[in-house]
Amino acid sequence: MATAVLGLQWGDEGKGKLAHLLAQKADMVVRFNGGPNAGHTVIDRGVKFGTHQVPAGAFYADTVNVLAGGMIIDLSVLREEVDAIAEHVGWMPQLMIAENAHLILPYHRLIEELEGSGTRFGTTRRGIAPTYRDKAAKLGVRAGDLLRPDELAKRVAWRLDLLKRRWPESEEAAALDATTLSEDLLFAGEPFLASIGTVANTIAAALDAGQDVVFEGAQGTLLDLDHGTYPFVTSSPTTYAGLANSIGIAVPAVSRRLGIAKAYQTRVGEGAFPTELLDEVGAELQERGGEFGVTTGRPRRCGWLDLVALRYAVALNGITELALTKIDVLGGCDEIKVCKAYTLDGDRIDRFPMADEVLRRCEPVYETLQGWDACLDGIDAFESLPDAARAYIAYIEKATGVPAGIVSTGPEPEATIYRGL
Ligand code: IMP
Repeated sequence: MATAVLGLQWGDEGKGKLAHLLAQKADMVVRFNGGPNAGHTVIDRGVKFGTHQVPAGAFYADTVNVLAGGMIIDLSVLREEVDAIAEHVGWMPQLMIAENAHLILPYHRLIEELEGSGTRFGTTRRGIAPTYRDKAAKLGVRAGDLLRPDELAKRVAWRLDLLKRRWPESEEAAALDATTLSEDLLFAGEPFLASIGTVANTIAAALDAGQDVVFEGAQGTLLDLDHGTYPFVTSSPTTYAGLANSIGIAVPAVSRRLGIAKAYQTRVGEGAFPTELLDEVGAELQERGGEFGVTTGRPRRCGWLDLVALRYAVALNGITELALTKIDVLGGCDEIKVCKAYTLDGDRIDRFPMADEVLRRCEPVYETLQGWDACLDGIDAFESLPDAARAYIAYIEKATGVPAGIVSTGPEPEATIYRGL
């Protein structure tokens, strides 16, 4: 059985926890987009990890972990992560790295700084957009180039020359040296050389053999480069549609497309957010939900659940099942609001406008539901949840047309209700 774990909001939905739970039984876990901009929180054997590039199967000895071609990789970050996980679990995680995955070089972070795009868009400042841009401009360096050091050195030198000509006044750019950069890359990549190759055949064989394969998405649907709230988006596809291209399989047989959605809405960085709560309730959600970015530590903006956006994300990904996370954080709210439509220029609309400048003008139309005061600790059956919590979940299921097969009531793996739907 193959499962895709897909974020349905602006990231930070709890994909890390779900991917880690599913990885326990998986033969293979595949990350298919983004890079170290992602921060997946995983609690493994009581220890909390924020993983950025390594798929969640790394915590299990027999699971193969694939970094697919749609990813971009920062080798130094990867090395640190792999070492930290290896020390924790006591073995070296099994890794496969797609030869066509692009590498993030120090100058990509520098470009983001020089252009000021990190500030303008509130990015994670990990060099994400400049790396994907180099990929599209055919200026990139790929994982497979590590196997051909001469070619790699040539590509780095060429790119660096362009950079220095573009930013002649930059002292940081002037200080970069192509030979040193190439040597650093080869050093950071050395432990992974044997893992680099074509991954499509291996993934296809696993799917054909009916193995348990988990595709671990990063970021969320509303941050998708093409279908998200442009220009306040990330630079890769984040949806199911991007998966096939990333792994190099035309029509991957992924029957379970698990959409992860938080019981409320959050966003880090800039961009429109119709249901944002700038009051005490928003501050409470932020505090109770521990809403601070895993990668950057920035506070996340919080608001009520946006069902217009959620319906859009469900349709875009062909979601077959929902996993609703952080339902516990809503405990203690007297009432809970959900946005069921918007008004735009005086008209009521049900569709999600992709353009940020239009979304900014949308006012939420709320439905108010009853809250609950009970603590959800230790509840492991859906029937044991407070009536109001079940009614809230039922409302979301009806609005999206998709069953919530998994309900998460806390960050720990045990705080998970499987409804067996
Ligand atoms: P970038 O991906 O660093 O270019 O950032 C673009 C936008 O996506 C910014 O608003 C980031 O905060 C957001 N973003 C990128 N990765 C994540 C993530 O994993 N979780 C939440 N937001 C993210």
